[in-house]
Amino acid sequence: MPISIKLGIAGRLFTAALACLTLAATVPTGRLGSTGYLFIQSTSGGSTVRVHSHTRVRPRARNIHLSFGDNETSVVVTWSTRNDTQSQVQLMSVQPPNATEKLYNGSSTIFVDSGTKKATQYVHRVTLPDLGWGGLFKYRCGSQATGWSDWFEFRTPKRGFSPRLAMFGDMGMVNAQSLPRLMQDASAGMYDAILHVGDFAYDMQEQDGATGDQFMQMIQPIAARLPYMTCVGNHEFMYNFSHYKNRFTMPKGFGGDGESMFYSFDLGPAHIIGISTEFYFFVEYGVDQLKSQYDWLQADLERASKNRAARPWIIIMGHRPMYCSNDDGDDCTFGALFMREGFLARWYPLEPLLQKYGVDLALWAHEHTYERMWPVTRLEVRNGSWRSRTRSPAALCTSSLGRLVVESVTTPSGRRCTILRSAAPTMATPDADLQLHPPQPGAGQRRSAGSNHRPDHHCAAQHGPFP
Ligand SMILES: [Fe+2]
Repeated sequence: MPISIKLGIAGRLFTAALACLTLAATVPTGRLGSTGYLFIQSTSGGSTVRVHSHTRVRPRARNIHLSFGDNETSVVVTWSTRNDTQSQVQLMSVQPPNATEKLYNGSSTIFVDSGTKKATQYVHRVTLPDLGWGGLFKYRCGSQATGWSDWFEFRTPKRGFSPRLAMFGDMGMVNAQSLPRLMQDASAGMYDAILHVGDFAYDMQEQDGATGDQFMQMIQPIAARLPYMTCVGNHEFMYNFSHYKNRFTMPKGFGGDGESMFYSFDLGPAHIIGISTEFYFFVEYGVDQLKSQYDWLQADLERASKNRAARPWIIIMGHRPMYCSNDDGDDCTFGALFMREGFLARWYPLEPLLQKYGVDLALWAHEHTYERMWPVTRLEVRNGSWRSRTRSPAALCTSSLGRLVVESVTTPSGRRCTILRSAAPTMATPDADLQLHPPQPGAGQRRSAGSNHRPDHHCAAQHGPFP
């Protein structure tokens, strides 16, 4: 069913680019129509763009995506099928070359949408453990009995790498402005992984779950070649977040709930934590899960803080920001208060926990704006100076308009840095760099301020271990 939206000229240009890139990336040469695709048609002479979502999927694997397993060189392949089939992955090493295909077996779970049609699919998960550093692999998923997907390629990180991450939230199906750029950059090998900080398809349960399938197919060109790491947003709340829980597979190596709502993983110099900020707001699903998350988070931070020598950075990501400045009389006041001071401004407050363990960086979304902040403690700006030795995290809030790349560089002074680079393919949104220095104290530096049309550069010091 067509979805009509109103877009300006810039929006139409981006939509056209999205259509070209999506088609180019999802339709393999010589196999037109054999796999899922998104078709976007612009009507002439007006501002209306009709977005037709045709999902002509082969009866085999669809919605294929990767995530990290329990360590950086382990990968989990997740996909879905209409029918109950075997869960197998064929893997071949491209670099170093090895002509021998290895077959991995996994398992599947049945997922029934809670809408009227009770649409059913089977979600398959196969773990490819301990693949080694710096490898280039190709794989296909499905089964020998029912057929295979196309081949996809992915890399495992090199030993001692600094991760390059694209980060965004709030992407959606019909106005995914970051997607063309993400596809370009992913194809160019710019990233080691994706961080999608909640709000996926607006909403995945719509059309009896077909919207979720179309979204997963839309991101497949990226997600089938890069670990697509996620946390949940408010737009996944229907049916107790069942579409999110069933479609994604986050690591379980450090515990967590096993349903991708809260978890953590190590990546290069960073320990990255994903939490559900929605537990503070959708308490009809149970306050107990808020307590479970809080208890787990405290234990995880305790463990990570003792491992600073190996993983100096502690980064947390959650959908709703703990601080933001939009004057909407809602999220940046009432909502943020719940985050900082706890449910009903009392239970399970996040701010003192993040401060106690010196979390370095918080990644938020939800606001549909780009914003970065000095460390803030109880509404007091710590100014980001290394002299303040603040324990509060610096913060970045970005929606689908933004992207972040974490990469390792050496400054003119010889200092080795990790950079978070944010950019957006729209004229109205700033670009930003955030440099994060290694654990030695000091060297926080704000390089320049941004505006709506100029790059925004920022440099912050990692907290360093705390007693
Ligand atoms: Fe949101």
